[in-house]
Amino acid sequence: MTLRAVAPWAVILAVALSVGAAFAKPDGTSTMPTKRPVDYEVGKRLWAQSCWQCHGESGKGDGPAAAALVGGVPSLEGKVRGNDLDRLVKVVQAGRGAMPAYSEDIDEHDTRRILQYLEGKLEGRAPPPDPDKEKDKEAEEGGEGQ
Ligand code: HEC
Repeated sequence: MTLRAVAPWAVILAVALSVGAAFAKPDGTSTMPTKRPVDYEVGKRLWAQSCWQCHGESGKGDGPAAAALVGGVPSLEGKVRGNDLDRLVKVVQAGRGAMPAYSEDIDEHDTRRILQYLEGKLEGRAPPPDPDKEKDKEAEEGGEGQ
């Protein structure tokens, strides 16, 4: 009885986990048309996961957690530049002041992806084409199954 009640959930959980694992696989991204949108998506996701709480959605230092920090959070406007990314990657990895170190959770490559995403956002650059939409377009153009 108990077992029967639990079983369907176990199946759903197993399916959910395997779907999650499939998406998480780094080589799952190989179906994407170019590398750029992938980097952008990774940067965006990690920013939303680990950084915006302090830095604010657009890096202006107005995240909800900033108010709780004694010194506040400086705006990153004008600070995140391509030619300075090597230095900034190290700052984020090592942490600074009220900012924790990220080297144990986010590697250098992903840290760079976050900063590249942020740089584009601060400069109001348009995001790269959505890979899913591009795929749809390709399918349409190819006339698959029409
Ligand atoms: C707990 C709040 C908090 C979180 C979370 C946080 N930061 Fe920071 N960040 C700060 C503060 C405060 C500073 C200013 C540190 C200082 O100079 O004393 C800062 C500074 C920076 C700087 C500027 C360094 C410089 O040289 O001017 C960058 C870039 C940065 N953070 C990126 C990130 C990224 C990327 C993440 C997510 C992986 C992140 N931060 C997460 C609080 C945070």
